[in-house]
Amino acid sequence: MKPDTLLARANDFLDERTGAVVPPLHTSTTFGRTADYELIGDHEYARDSAPTVSGAETLVAALEDAAEALLFSSGMSAVTVLLETLGTGDRLVAPTVMYHGAQDWFRRLADRRGIELAFFDATVDGALEAAVAAGPTTMLWIESPVNPTWDVIDIGAAATAARAAGATLVVDSTVAPPVTTRALSLGADIVLHSATKYLNGHSDLTGGVLATRELDERWEEIRLVRKSTGTILAPFDAWLLIRGLRTLGLRFERASANAAAIAERFCDHPAVEACLYPGLPTHPRHDVARRQMRAGFGGMLSLLIANDPEGERARCIATSLCHFTPATSLGGVESLVEHRATVEGPHSVVPKNLLRFSIGIEAVEDLIEDLERALA
Ligand SMILES: Cc1ncc(COP(=O)(O)O)c(C=O)c1O
Repeated sequence: MKPDTLLARANDFLDERTGAVVPPLHTSTTFGRTADYELIGDHEYARDSAPTVSGAETLVAALEDAAEALLFSSGMSAVTVLLETLGTGDRLVAPTVMYHGAQDWFRRLADRRGIELAFFDATVDGALEAAVAAGPTTMLWIESPVNPTWDVIDIGAAATAARAAGATLVVDSTVAPPVTTRALSLGADIVLHSATKYLNGHSDLTGGVLATRELDERWEEIRLVRKSTGTILAPFDAWLLIRGLRTLGLRFERASANAAAIAERFCDHPAVEACLYPGLPTHPRHDVARRQMRAGFGGMLSLLIANDPEGERARCIATSLCHFTPATSLGGVESLVEHRATVEGPHSVVPKNLLRFSIGIEAVEDLIEDLERALA
């Protein structure tokens, strides 16, 4: 099945007992046994696994072409559990610009646990390879497109570098969901998503995904840590996630088309210094984006506001828009705008004149008109 069919049909779900075409919500935390004391089904206790969660995991694994997928209570809990597999003396390599919440967590953990941390500039050719080769690398962490500058990292090239070093390649593909990028097929060992974003798409749950190419030792540890810490996604959120996933293809297509139209319209606007969007032919890695984002470049773009070194105009624009809510997060049906430097605080490396837009599925004419007015 193609991804859109898989999703719309919720992995060909049909309840054999009732004929229901929609997966049920099971809220039970515990699961019964037979007279022989065998478990009746596949589940024992909901901190480890539960039917609705497993249903969502099977769907995500099929979508990612993964050996297995696990769901977590947030993207950051997926990040945290994955980092639990690193110990003293391990070396983690990551981009200088990436989702700041994960990077802040890397730094804290590296300090406390004696993990060596090395960063590379994703905009410089060869920097990733040099950083990986500079020491015995345990894990290479990439994000593509990179939040919030939307640089594109070549996943195939990163996989080659990781393999040569014997490192695990982790791809945070939150911004490029599997309808457009299948990171495992491009060579990643583990793909991560904040399911809070595109996968669910309705800004009404927090969730995270890890999906693996192989059921290896690291994956066994990830399973164990999730079970022991209870960071599994709640059943109702898994049910909402299945419902959200069923329209992922359509939502992503519309958000991508809207963002592409906005990027084209505003890239040469006099109030805009630059438009950062992988779908623009002028984007420095547009060719890589074309190769690894098969069904569109997504709804995320940033505008650098002209003549605005302190970001005052950018903040004013953010709060003058009518159809873009000034709020954090991304990947929902509604358009959002955010002044990242303010949100990230004094240590942010994000330019002060950068406004990040998460383009939703509204009528693009309304969004363009609103932006025209606010920029004017
Ligand atoms: C690229 C990326 N990865 C991970 C996360 C963390 O996800 P969550 O907010 O669901 O914990 C985010 C959140 O914004 C993100 O943008």
